[in-house]
Amino acid sequence: MTVNMTRVHKNVHPDEATLNHLTEAANRLVQTRRYQMGYPFDQETNLEGFYKWLIETGLCNTTLISVGSPYKEAWDMLDVDEFERAIVDFYAKAFGFPADSWWGFISNGGTDGNMHGLYFGRKYLASKSDLSPILYVSAEAHYSVQKLGDVLNMETRVIKALPGGQMDASDLRRQLDPTRPALIGIAIGGTFKGAIDNQDEIDAVLKDVNPPAYYRHLDVALFGGYLPWLNDPEANAVLNQAKKGFDSLAVSGHKFLAMNEPCGVFVCKKEILDTLHNVTVPYLDCVIPTISCSRSGFDVLKLYWRITTSGADGFREEAEHSLAMTAKLVDALKKRDIEPFVNRWSNTVLFKRPAAEMIHKYCMACQGDLSHVVVMQYFDEPLIEQLADDIAK
Ligand SMILES: Cc1ncc(COP(=O)(O)O)c(C=O)c1O
Repeated sequence: MTVNMTRVHKNVHPDEATLNHLTEAANRLVQTRRYQMGYPFDQETNLEGFYKWLIETGLCNTTLISVGSPYKEAWDMLDVDEFERAIVDFYAKAFGFPADSWWGFISNGGTDGNMHGLYFGRKYLASKSDLSPILYVSAEAHYSVQKLGDVLNMETRVIKALPGGQMDASDLRRQLDPTRPALIGIAIGGTFKGAIDNQDEIDAVLKDVNPPAYYRHLDVALFGGYLPWLNDPEANAVLNQAKKGFDSLAVSGHKFLAMNEPCGVFVCKKEILDTLHNVTVPYLDCVIPTISCSRSGFDVLKLYWRITTSGADGFREEAEHSLAMTAKLVDALKKRDIEPFVNRWSNTVLFKRPAAEMIHKYCMACQGDLSHVVVMQYFDEPLIEQLADDIAK
């Protein structure tokens, strides 16, 4: 069989029937995008300018892959490392890492960031002790942490959660093994209840029980996008590395950072890198600290576009807007005799399961007799009134 490459390259649209089918699907997706409220995706990504620029520059016809550390030097393959470094530096500063004390990269998503946190943590702990570490994570943390414990073949202890969803520090104290290194997966916040595990309480338990070594990874998938920008020093302090001392964190790009496809930001203490048994790849002529080989260079450009167009002030406005809209939804529900529950600094609003029709209409996430919606940047007052009316129906 001969392949007609000219046709492949020149054919800019599929045939008419296929195109119509695709366009129908696109119209449906665009029309219903504001009704995906159970999941923390910003449905007003405003990336038109970026996509126009990709076409204008011809980058839309280019393959762009990020490999390994964005801080590497002497690299021949096409790369966008300078922009990736700028993003990591921007977030490391927002997360209060002291000058020149961080390393990071743009990951393939929240789970990928957690995977690097747990893998780096295991390597770090192996450099401190010959004993195998135990992973501790609360029952309310995202399931990826337990799953990654399984992938990394680590003994995993699931710590009870308090009714609000925070890790129960007294159960951690009961389960923490004083003889083996501890890898703690800390949820900031939990997926369903939006609860922030209390790092001070966890630290106090670690100090008292005193395992041979410990490593704290923060899963900040959604909250990492807005906690540093809230006009509230106590909220900012939760994700301040210099104050809290955590070792690594993972943010999702496609949550508060409003990326339209999976990616994320991973940042860790620079010293952690020294404890990795880095794999030198002869044909790449360098050491690769990351796990997957190829990552999207376009995610890097898109995220760079986002932080340079929104900037700290834009993120501040969006963070305040989301929590203001959260408060409005809470009030609107109370006015309709529905008792909602929201954790501190959370934009996840929980309430008793409404009618099945509404659960499907708004794509709500449900657990037991509770449902939730996540109040993202695109929420406005008319949408909140409509949602509250429908929940009360
Ligand atoms: C708290 C938390 N961590 C991690 C993840 C996983 O992120 P991803 O879907 O990007 O792998 C999620 C996804 O919803 C999450 O809510």
